[in-house]
Amino acid sequence: MRNVLYPGSFDPLTNGHLDLIARASKLFDRVIVAVAINSEKHPMFTIEERVEMIEACCTSYGNVRAVPVCGLLVNAVKKYQATAILRGLRAFSDFEYELQMALMNRSLRDDCETIFMMPTTNNSFVSSRLVKEVANLGADYSKYVPPPVAARIAAKLKEQQK
Ligand code: PNS
Repeated sequence: MRNVLYPGSFDPLTNGHLDLIARASKLFDRVIVAVAINSEKHPMFTIEERVEMIEACCTSYGNVRAVPVCGLLVNAVKKYQATAILRGLRAFSDFEYELQMALMNRSLRDDCETIFMMPTTNNSFVSSRLVKEVANLGADYSKYVPPPVAARIAAKLKEQQK
């Protein structure tokens, strides 16, 4: 069994993330989407909401599940018996941050490999941060996220307006 752990904040899941999940689901026996805490970010959605949204978007893939992850990612790699960590690279600007994380994770656990995949170029400019920014400023964000996520963002914005 080849399991891959795909970690991230996923706040929220975008079409770029989903594209990567679809590609990984063909290459690995199981894809575990690990919703982790990035201590540098202030999330719009709780971890539970993010896990639920990812599950709702991945029902058509029989080998994908979403889980919440607390603490170190390398511990989750062990827990879920993952062969590797998967991360997306959209542009060269992502590379330095990704390289540091990959090397830190390997320094923490010698057998912890990170592999990188590129999402389709249509989504290469899409990030959760920009989706939230344009959504908060009233633009149409529905083309950047899967429909279940668009519905959740709409509900969240309505809640915030109360
Ligand atoms: O989508 P993001 O915010 O770029 O994902 C970053 C994330 C959540 C993968 C990273 O912050 C992380 O791995 N957090 C878990 C805690 C941890 O293990 N930190 C050390 C990683 S080098």
